Amino acid sequence: MTSCLFTSINIGRLRLINRFVRSATHDYLADDQQGFIRPAQLELYRHLAEGEIGLIITGHAYVHPSGKASPRQIAVDDDRKIPGLARLAEAVHQSSRGSLVFMQISHAGRQTSPALCGQQPLAPSAVYDPVSRVLPRELTVEEIYQVIEWFVKAAGRARQAGFDGVQLHAGHGYLLSSFISPHTNRRLDDWGGSSENRSRIIREIIAGIRQTCGPEFPLIIKMNATDHLPGGLTLEEAANIAISLEQAGLQAIEISGGMNEAGLGSVWPGLRAEEEEGYFVPLAASIKKILKIPVIGLGGIRTYRVAEKLVASGQVDLISMSRPFINHPGLVKDFRTRHLEKSPCLSCNKCFNPRGISCRQK
Ligand SMILES: Cc1cc2nc3c(=O)[nH]c(=O)nc-3n(C[C@H](O)[C@H](O)[C@H](O)COP(=O)(O)O)c2cc1C
Ligand code: SF4
Repeated sequence: MTSCLFTSINIGRLRLINRFVRSATHDYLADDQQGFIRPAQLELYRHLAEGEIGLIITGHAYVHPSGKASPRQIAVDDDRKIPGLARLAEAVHQSSRGSLVFMQISHAGRQTSPALCGQQPLAPSAVYDPVSRVLPRELTVEEIYQVIEWFVKAAGRARQAGFDGVQLHAGHGYLLSSFISPHTNRRLDDWGGSSENRSRIIREIIAGIRQTCGPEFPLIIKMNATDHLPGGLTLEEAANIAISLEQAGLQAIEISGGMNEAGLGSVWPGLRAEEEEGYFVPLAASIKKILKIPVIGLGGIRTYRVAEKLVASGQVDLISMSRPFINHPGLVKDFRTRHLEKSPCLSCNKCFNPRGISCRQK
């Protein structure tokens, strides 16, 4: 009998070949000055596609230089990036056994440094970040509309480059995440206060993308359902926001959590017992109960039968992983053809390497 993990599912009108997602993974392989795609990235994405992953999501691509979060990060901030990005989308489609590729588009907000982003970092409010030691500058209303335009234009470039869709990055304390968090958004105008106001920027971005890319262009989000911070985003508010985004035309949601300031991000170290795999899945399962669109579960999932149980029991619709694909891009294919039981990834986090991600346990 076919496992539920190898049944297809739709994101909008797009059909995925299976239930596996490569969660967005910054690879530190782009050109450091301007974020152009480099050949090593084409190679990496070819391997991911050969591994039969249903949906591959790129590392976060910055929509404007003020939103650069990290060295050697992909950029989608101007039209000159389109040819390189098109080669990356083509690398997936050509080597593909049916994999699709989405671009994750992002702005770092306050989780960067003037050295990286070339200016005082931007945020909804001037709330000091003790981790990056940054006091960001509060965006004016006019600048918020500019940010919306950056995201909309970035999505247009992704579409032009041949990506199958776009994922908005609204997790981990970056700019959109910092808007929806009451800890980092202290605004008293239409863009702060209630969860409806705090998530307005995301609905405006969705509306803009719908206008320029069409009503059916695949558009999903990765969103925090907790910041792991006192005074941060709660599950109840995240659920309300998720409903409003579904109504605005979003087609799937990946649930994550954490921000730098909390000392607990989304990449938890250490191996866990099978029953603790999927550390964000309980949050995702709560949100799934109130949505119609597919929900993507995440966080330390390593074991095939765990992934199967999470989907078969209806807790989530898709299984997302990041580090296991750094360890072995062919993991899904090996699950299918060799009945591999578990990813050998140890969640040791030694793959974070500013000269390019790679598994240190091999
Ligand atoms: C090297 C590395 C880079 C990452 N880059 C991103 C990113 O660009 N965008 C994002 O949303 N999450 C990023 N993440 C987080 C992962 O997408 C994922 O949410 C997290 O690692 C938990 O999944 P896992 O336990 O399967 O690794 C990154 C994780 C790693 C290990
Ligand atoms: S270094 Fe290898 S084993 Fe360790 S977390 Fe990264 S991919 Fe997994």
